[in-house]
Amino acid sequence: MAGLKQLLLVTLVLCAHQLISGYSFKNCIAEPYSRGTLFNCIRRKETNISAIIEDLPPSVVNLTITINPLRHIPSYSFVHLPNIQHLRIDHNHLRNISQSAFQYLHQLKSLNLSFNYISELSPDAFKDLHNLTFLSLTNNKLKQLPEKIFFSLINLNTLLIRQNLLTNFSGIAKSVSNLTNLKILNLCFNHLTSLRHSNVSLPKSLTKLYVCRNNLSTLGCEPSFLSFIKFLDLSYNSQLLATAFQGVDLRQIIYLHLRSTSVKVVEFLKVSNISASHVDFSGTGLNNESLLVDLCKLLKTRVKWIKNFNLGSNRIRNLTKLSLQNCPKIKGALDLSLNELKRISCLNFLNSHRDIKSFDAEHNHLTYLPTCKTRSVVYFQNLEELSYRYNRILSVNSYAFYHTPNIKQLKLNINTIAFLHRKALKGLKRLETLRLDNNLLTDLFNDTFEDNINLHILNLRNNRISVIFNGTFLKLSNLTTLDLGGNKITHFEHSGLDGLKSLSKFYLDGNNLKQIDPSLFRAFQQTLTALDLQSNQIAFFNEKTTCSPFVNLRKLSDLKLDGQRPHGLTVIPPNFFKGLHSLKSLYLTNNNIVLLPPNAFDDLTGLHFLTLDNCCVGAVNLQPGVFKNLRNVTKLIVENMGIQNFSKEVFGNLTKLHILQLNRNVMQQIQVNALESLPNLHYLDIRGIPLSCTCKNNLLQNWTLNNTNVQVVFLYTLSCEHDKKIKFYNFDTKVCYIDLGEYLFFCTAAVVFLFTVTPLLYVKLYWKMKYSYYVFCAWFREQWRKLREEEENCKYDAFISYNSSDEQWIMDQLVPNLEGNGSSFKLCLHHRDFELGRYIVDNIVSAVYSSRKTICVVSRNFLQSEWCSLEIQLASYRLFDEHRDVLVLVFLEPISERQLSSYHRMRKVMLKKTYLQWPGLDCTDPALAQDLFWNQLRRAMRTGSKLKTEENQQSEGCVTTESEETEHFETSDENYYLLP
Ligand SMILES: *[C@@H]1O[C@H](CO)[C@@H](O)[C@H](O)[C@H]1NC(C)=O
Ligand SMILES: *[C@@H]1O[C@H](CO)[C@@H](O)[C@H](O)[C@H]1NC(C)=O
Ligand SMILES: *[C@@H]1O[C@H](CO)[C@@H](O)[C@H](O)[C@H]1NC(C)=O
Repeated sequence: MAGLKQLLLVTLVLCAHQLISGYSFKNCIAEPYSRGTLFNCIRRKETNISAIIEDLPPSVVNLTITINPLRHIPSYSFVHLPNIQHLRIDHNHLRNISQSAFQYLHQLKSLNLSFNYISELSPDAFKDLHNLTFLSLTNNKLKQLPEKIFFSLINLNTLLIRQNLLTNFSGIAKSVSNLTNLKILNLCFNHLTSLRHSNVSLPKSLTKLYVCRNNLSTLGCEPSFLSFIKFLDLSYNSQLLATAFQGVDLRQIIYLHLRSTSVKVVEFLKVSNISASHVDFSGTGLNNESLLVDLCKLLKTRVKWIKNFNLGSNRIRNLTKLSLQNCPKIKGALDLSLNELKRISCLNFLNSHRDIKSFDAEHNHLTYLPTCKTRSVVYFQNLEELSYRYNRILSVNSYAFYHTPNIKQLKLNINTIAFLHRKALKGLKRLETLRLDNNLLTDLFNDTFEDNINLHILNLRNNRISVIFNGTFLKLSNLTTLDLGGNKITHFEHSGLDGLKSLSKFYLDGNNLKQIDPSLFRAFQQTLTALDLQSNQIAFFNEKTTCSPFVNLRKLSDLKLDGQRPHGLTVIPPNFFKGLHSLKSLYLTNNNIVLLPPNAFDDLTGLHFLTLDNCCVGAVNLQPGVFKNLRNVTKLIVENMGIQNFSKEVFGNLTKLHILQLNRNVMQQIQVNALESLPNLHYLDIRGIPLSCTCKNNLLQNWTLNNTNVQVVFLYTLSCEHDKKIKFYNFDTKVCYIDLGEYLFFCTAAVVFLFTVTPLLYVKLYWKMKYSYYVFCAWFREQWRKLREEEENCKYDAFISYNSSDEQWIMDQLVPNLEGNGSSFKLCLHHRDFELGRYIVDNIVSAVYSSRKTICVVSRNFLQSEWCSLEIQLASYRLFDEHRDVLVLVFLEPISERQLSSYHRMRKVMLKKTYLQWPGLDCTDPALAQDLFWNQLRRAMRTGSKLKTEENQQSEGCVTTESEETEHFETSDENYYLLP
């Protein structure tokens, strides 16, 4: 039965999956290069998990579903994804999980459900996860756990239930009791008050137990309960007392954390069988010398030496030679971080611990480091790591590290060092890493690093250095990484970088460099691999720069030039990147480039990654061939570049391109042949492009849905530019295909028919056809004659269509000028000539059809009147459909394009014809202009009505009123103008 159910479910899911073809996903992104194994479904506004993952293929191995408003995981949610090994569903709004939610995930190795609102779990929630090794339920609302919840997780190694509301330790112990592979259990930030338990033991495999930040006041467990634990964190249980440990077996412990508890360590060591050197003494209130002395004495009775001694967070203000004198020998690290030490006195309080290897005093109150080249100084020959980070050190004196000559790592960063004596680092011949970043240094001297011949990494980031003087780094021939970012460097003296023979990574970002001097790099031109020049002030204003600053950097593989202040690089000179054949990554984002020559990238034949997003404020049109040599580029970011045309000419040569981020550009159309010229494309991001959903893009739609190689990111949420509600992937493209198909069909059919029938007919019916032809010609001539007659028989010369508010002009101007005054046209005026008692529409129709012309007197009122619109329609019907040009337009007042825009029919007529404008009184010579106007109107009325030429005749500035005549009038712009 269950088998049947499963089969049914799987079939169902498979069917659902078949509905969507292609290679794009609704709510998830397949990681490039992962071959469909890694998927991220992040920040989708989707509350239904199956809507998120329904279209994923069964090949998924790592699946991340985070930051979604999911509340619930229903049963059988993942049956179609049986190969998942790592599943993250953290940072959602999960409240509950159905009991078979993870059914059939037999391969699942890690499951992360942290940062949700889960308050209850069904006992069978994890039933099928036999291979699970990692489970996180951190930051939920669990108050208790069902007893059998983890029983089938036989391979579980790590269980995190931090930040919940658990109160009952016994229940937790029971639930994990037979997890024979469990190693790590984290219960920090809960509400446990003790480790009391009934009749269970922890699995022997469990070695790390974290119970920090609970309300433990006692342990309350069996003496042997913790006997397999090696790592025990009980910190921040402020009620916990030393007596709680009485009798508990802690022999196996190798690290115990007791910070911020009420445990008095001396007392604790007296009652416990723990190996004393394995206690972390940080935050245990050892804030005065006598407590330290007592502790040391006690420790000495237990152990001969200590490896790591942590005395951090104890509010220690001062240490003297006596403080640690009685301690067992410290052989490894001493940590004094987070105390209140004001001075360190050349470490002479470590007089009896000269073998120490590492010393930390971070987060103290140190203000200066004194000279340590004195007679009484203690030498620490074995000390290799020294850290004074996060102090308030202002000055470092000469020979400050003379007593620790063998240190390899020195951290002086995040202080306020303004004064570093030129001999401060004297003697540190073995130093490999020096951190001086985030200080207030302004000057480096030519002997500052004189002795540090072994230095590999020098970090001077975020200081106030403005000039690098000659010889500063002369002795640093082993330096591989130099970080000078975030300073105020404006220039380097000529041999300022000499000596850096091995330099590989050079960070100069965030300085004030205005240009790049090629000779600067000469010391390390054979070794430099990464150069960061981000956010300087480099700019070019013309193309003239002839030599490339990077020409000799043969090994350079990373170059960052993005975000030049304040206005960007502006111009990329043609030879700028010359010689960079080994460059792999180039960053040019945020640069306001207005000139990008088509050969700029010609030498970058080895480039793998290029980012140009935001580089060019839309001012640059990528020119054909600009990427022609970038045959090795696999990832290209051209986001927000104002690209208007994605063409094969520009992008066609990127034959290895795998990932293309084209989003936020302005093209409405993407040529499919340009995409098809990128044979290795697998990942295409076209979000934020105003794609038009028209036949222009029907091929693109088809391509995005049907290609099997290219993932179009969130294809199913891309919308159409004209209507955001319509999705690009399913806008209607039927018209684009059907028309063509039908035409082809009918044309072919007709041709075939003709070829078959014509010869037959010719043979059989030759005489009959000839006869019919003559009969037809005779009939045609007869019809033609009738038409002419009809025209001549028209009752009126013109029907005047006008609005009654313009009647004044009709009576005063039009009628006298056309009917009288030597010209005797017969006009049809509605108030005078319409038949009384007849329906007005009939009147209009018969007026239009019994007049040779219809003159529309257009004014604003005319446009608004409904009869006039009918009249225009009738006349224009004759114009467009009967091809009888009966319409003459007369504009009584200037009417702007905008006002006309809502009168569609009128606009259409105007596009077809020219028209007359009544010259008002405001032109220079009204009388003359009006004379001309009447002449033109009369001429227009006299012309025949059959349309001979389609196009109007017009030549620059001259307007004729009628299509049949090519005569030009002397016109002035005031009198006649052509509306567009
Ligand atoms: C899959 O996820 C696991 C756990 O998050 C991670 O360790 C692993 O690197 C991921 N695999 C890949 C190929 O990224
Ligand atoms: C665990 O995964 C392995 C393959 O990784 C598989 O062969 C085995 O059947 C799985 N175990 C269980 C209990 O499903
Ligand atoms: C854990 O205990 C339960 C009940 O006691 C049992 O059903 C289950 O098989 C045990 N699991 C293992 C791995 O021993």
